[in-house]
Amino acid sequence: MEERKALIAPSILSADFAKLGEELIALERDGADWIHIDVMDGHFVPNLTFGPPVIKLLRRHTTLPFDVHLMISNPELYIEDYAAAGADIITVHAEAALHLHRLLGAIKEASAKLPREKTGRVFEEIRAGVSLNPATPTCAILPIMEIVDLALIMSVNPGFGGQKFISSTLQKARELSELRDKNPSLNFDIEIDGGINVDTINQAHSAGVNIFVAGNAVLKTKDYKAAIKNLKAAID
Ligand code: DX5
Ligand code: ZN
Repeated sequence: MEERKALIAPSILSADFAKLGEELIALERDGADWIHIDVMDGHFVPNLTFGPPVIKLLRRHTTLPFDVHLMISNPELYIEDYAAAGADIITVHAEAALHLHRLLGAIKEASAKLPREKTGRVFEEIRAGVSLNPATPTCAILPIMEIVDLALIMSVNPGFGGQKFISSTLQKARELSELRDKNPSLNFDIEIDGGINVDTINQAHSAGVNIFVAGNAVLKTKDYKAAIKNLKAAID
């Protein structure tokens, strides 16, 4: 099986919110692969961040893919808004969706309805992601993996940056990666989010993860370039 490229997706949850445009320019210059955008509604998680209007304005400041992680209730009401704002990946939480299969279908429909030129996104088509909280098992999503482009394993309870890595969640990355190896019809990336740093990134990589979200490990340092380089170097 050909190995997927390891990508670092710094989370702007740990950025200076008063300087988001500048932060994006710095992250692109310093070697980030994707920009991870944590959308929180104060309901699904006990914290609030930003929504489509802010994302749309940020689109002008970078040509990196926007990895939009929706930690919101009723995500089905907002898919088109995030697609129009320039999202490249839209990830919804399995726990927030009553009709997950329909919701992932709605992401693909929004992608088809809004061509790339209209939104400024980087990818030709928007990718549909699904996220699992630490307590949610992989069996919650196994029957629908054929329409999933990205599986996001939460390695902390969502809501805040700077929390401790929960290593028991790695088992889910192993399960999904094995499933993918056995089924040529499946084609999804495995991403991990929460507590990723130079001490934890390699365990995640060994479990089959290829996309690594890093909030504090990049944005709470003075030298983003060194931080991103060190994360990549910590992968065997
Ligand atoms: C948490 C967010 C994460 C967060 C990660 O709910 O989904 O993306 O920014 O931050 P660190 O890397 O500091 O744990
Ligand atoms: Zn996130």
